Amino acid sequence: MELAILISGRGSNLGAILGAVREKRLDARVRVVVSNRPSAGGLDLAREAGVATAVLEHGAYPGREAYDAALVALLRERGVDTVALAGFDRLVTGVFLRAFPGRVLNVHPALLPAFKGLHAQRQALDYGARIAGVTVHFVDEQMDHGPIIAQAAVPVLDDDTEQSLSDRLLAEEHRIYPLALQRLARGELRVVGRRVIGGLP
Ligand code: GRF
Repeated sequence: MELAILISGRGSNLGAILGAVREKRLDARVRVVVSNRPSAGGLDLAREAGVATAVLEHGAYPGREAYDAALVALLRERGVDTVALAGFDRLVTGVFLRAFPGRVLNVHPALLPAFKGLHAQRQALDYGARIAGVTVHFVDEQMDHGPIIAQAAVPVLDDDTEQSLSDRLLAEEHRIYPLALQRLARGELRVVGRRVIGGLP
């Protein structure tokens, strides 16, 4: 699997994926790490791991589709066939998704379809949820939406803060994102309607 990882920030999921590749738990080559923000800490992580990086600033393009067309051109040039969004804070358009059909994944810190969008952990706390969780899913044109490949649940504790809950959730993201990608790499996932056959757990 020829993977690109798209980030906007610190890149802890990127780190988990790179670790899985290094330890041969994930049969993939990371062709490039792309950020839409030059300040993304994850770029340093990638460089330290000897992985190629690129910065494509969304502000330099007239709109989402023009930006996505540039992203597609860059990824094609690097021989990419699969894309993992890992804290990438832009919505991708059909221009992007049609270039990599069924090969774009995302991780979200909630049990979708609950708590889409920003600050999902705070949303779960504010709602009073007793169980929170994380989701890895195929990406479609709606935000935090698409066939679900993997989910993991964690308890919400009485004394949780947004930070403590986020930390517990992040550990689960780091665990299940590489597992989901490995299922894809091995050709074990099949989408039937809205359902993914071969997902986990
Ligand atoms: C994660 O919580 C992910 O689920 C969300 O953005 C955050 C990115 O964190 N989409 P990191 O950059 O991977 O550390």
